[in-house]
Amino acid sequence: MVEFAFDIKQLFPQPIIRVQAHSLRPTVTQLRHRPHPFIANPQRGHSTMPSCQLSQILDVMGKLSADAQGLRQPVTTADKLASDQVVYLMADDAAGYWAITGLLKVGTKDLFLFDQEGCCRRAKQTPAILDFYVHESRQRCGQGKLLFQRMLEQQGWSASKCSVDRPSKKLLGFMAKHYGLVRTIPQGNNFVLYEGFFDDPMTKC
Ligand code: ACO
Repeated sequence: MVEFAFDIKQLFPQPIIRVQAHSLRPTVTQLRHRPHPFIANPQRGHSTMPSCQLSQILDVMGKLSADAQGLRQPVTTADKLASDQVVYLMADDAAGYWAITGLLKVGTKDLFLFDQEGCCRRAKQTPAILDFYVHESRQRCGQGKLLFQRMLEQQGWSASKCSVDRPSKKLLGFMAKHYGLVRTIPQGNNFVLYEGFFDDPMTKC
């Protein structure tokens, strides 16, 4: 479980929160109440602002996700979060203390894609699953489904319309089990598309 030196609970009015780039910037009120730079303990000063705490969580969870996927560089860091991307974070106190249990980063992409007939199509603002991680101690307990389902509801997306950036074996199994998505449409890039993606008309290039 991923614990932090600050109180996680105050960041989580509900078990799953939505984080965007603007949530990682301190508000004017937060800056006004920040400890004086010359008298503050720098570590304490940093971790008392919610925006800094969220940034720390993103960096730590992004690193754990990269390790779990065998990636050299994290896909998710606070610095790299673009304005059109959203990170869903999940936490609970099931272990007797508040800890972060999962991360799901999504965004939209303008992609050139092949449909089932092999025709190239331009898909604008394609929903994209970019990074997904549930802590090892919680995997295969339905936590991933909870997080993914909340994301779909909040984004107004359906699973078959999502492109998935370099899915791991675990994620392929997850999509098959929970959403019945098995048959993919071969692409010339790292994204995986499932049958059903092209059910609505789209621009041919
Ligand atoms: N081996 C095979 N399939 C697995 C595994 C595993 N070790 N773990 C989860 N799955 C799949 C299976 O279909 C499983 O069903 P089963 O237990 O009946 O076989 C199903 O996921 C379980 O569903 P949940 O419990 O809802 O999902 P979970 O909480 O395990 O979260 C996740 C799924 C996020 C993929 C998690 O396993 C994880 O963090 N894996 C490591 C990181 C990773 O691979 N992330 C995806 C990278 S690709 C990307 O982010 C675009």
